[in-house]
Amino acid sequence: MALLKILQYPDKRLHTVAKPIATVDEEIRRLAADMAETMYAAPGVGLAATQVDRHIRLIVIDVSEEKNRLLTLINPVILERDGEIVHEEGCLSVPGIYENVTRAEHIKARAQDSVGQTFEFEAEGLLAICVQHEVDHLDGKVFVEYLSRLKQDRIRSKLVKQQRETM
Ligand code: NI
Repeated sequence: MALLKILQYPDKRLHTVAKPIATVDEEIRRLAADMAETMYAAPGVGLAATQVDRHIRLIVIDVSEEKNRLLTLINPVILERDGEIVHEEGCLSVPGIYENVTRAEHIKARAQDSVGQTFEFEAEGLLAICVQHEVDHLDGKVFVEYLSRLKQDRIRSKLVKQQRETM
């Protein structure tokens, strides 16, 4: 396994729309394993392939305390959304920034697992938020885009400055 490099906002590649995965093969499983290792090491609760510059519809999530409930979602689709929840979100591609975002509180979704089997599931609270956040990444959307233009501009200049200093 290997740790992957995570793209940092405002990298334009984060706005790429990811392509569906036609076949769930060994290469996809290896990428999913590397993404999980990268997510746990960061540490984070979710990572989309977009964030490691692979523009295919694959995400890994683990919102459990014990970090033992890895969820690998291939070609995830949110079928239903209801309710509303406001929660402070962060993102491995936007380090050090935490802002409130309004999401659906409850979702129903469909995806394929790491052997290509299609399944449906319901989620609420933190898991529902996380699935919505990661599916947004696959659509080229970063959570800061839900914030005001002014806040987005401030976040962008702060991160550009940080990245310049650590180069
Ligand atoms: Ni993120």
